[in-house]
Amino acid sequence: MLDKLKEIETTALAALEKVQDESALEAWRVTYLGRSSALMNLFGALGALSKEERPRLGQAANQVKKALEAAFADRAAALKAAALQRSLAGERLDVTLPGRPLPRGRLHPDTQTLREIYRVFGEMGFQVYRAREVETDEYNYQLLNFPIGHPARDMQDTYFLEAEGRGDNPLLLRTHTSPGQIRSMREFSAMNPADPPPVRIILPGMCYRYEQVTTRHETQFDQVEGLAVGPGITFSDLKGTLADFARRMFGQSVRTRFRASHFPFTEPSAEFDVECFLCGGTGCGVCKGAGWLEIGGCGMVHPVVLQNGGYDPARYTGFAFGLGPQRIAMLRHRIEDIRYFWQNDLRFLEQF
Ligand code: PHE
Repeated sequence: MLDKLKEIETTALAALEKVQDESALEAWRVTYLGRSSALMNLFGALGALSKEERPRLGQAANQVKKALEAAFADRAAALKAAALQRSLAGERLDVTLPGRPLPRGRLHPDTQTLREIYRVFGEMGFQVYRAREVETDEYNYQLLNFPIGHPARDMQDTYFLEAEGRGDNPLLLRTHTSPGQIRSMREFSAMNPADPPPVRIILPGMCYRYEQVTTRHETQFDQVEGLAVGPGITFSDLKGTLADFARRMFGQSVRTRFRASHFPFTEPSAEFDVECFLCGGTGCGVCKGAGWLEIGGCGMVHPVVLQNGGYDPARYTGFAFGLGPQRIAMLRHRIEDIRYFWQNDLRFLEQF
């Protein structure tokens, strides 16, 4: 019986050597350690042995069983490790390969110009104040001295959103950033009605007009309004502020000029021109031979507008201006057509 045990062990271990995968290993386990294996049958036969022989053979059989189980476990571990090695080698990730370049976004040329304008006015102490794009007739016109039927309204016709039931105060898309003058002054003066604080803000944002679309006119465009209100502000403060803005924006040597104009909400009023830096003032295609380029309107805040904002015109004066950032961007980058701004053509946008 001992010989038989020895033989079982030898053949089982030899067979195990040849096992190369998990299913063969399982088959081996059934054959050599399973319930009907030769080894298990031998355990069954132990009962028929004499009392003297039984412990010795029982012990020997147990040793063989332990040895086979240990060999089985080793083989299983070795197969597992080999499988892992195979999959590591087969699915290798080459981390030295350079990544695919991500397309980088960029800021719209209009946004870039706006940020430059915020920076320049920020250095001069102006805060950015945001007002709404959907306005009422009252704020867009009436409180700015354009009464119903005023001829100056013809220059700024717009898109009306809701008129029914609103009488003389329909909802509309604002035609300029100037209604923000009233909104900001009302907010500031409400803080201390008896002694309202000074105002020094810029109001950027989109405006809308019913326009014949051309290379220089669009139905939607940005404006940057400026507003300074306080005791003793004069027209020379306005001139100095805008001239300084132009120098910081376009360079120290740029020349500027003011031309008399009219706006219902400023008195006196002016247009603000910058020397054409393409031709240096001699006249070219961009400035249409004038040597100057208009970049905005301005003036001293009308007393009625101050009053409407909660500022007593007997104690306060102020100036206001409205700049066209797209015009400024067109000048800086020599963009010939304002329509490029909102066409979302990457061939245009990727140049900035
Ligand atoms: N709101 C005027 C326009 O759109 C510009 C302007 C602003 C003029 C402030 C004077 C003062 O034409």
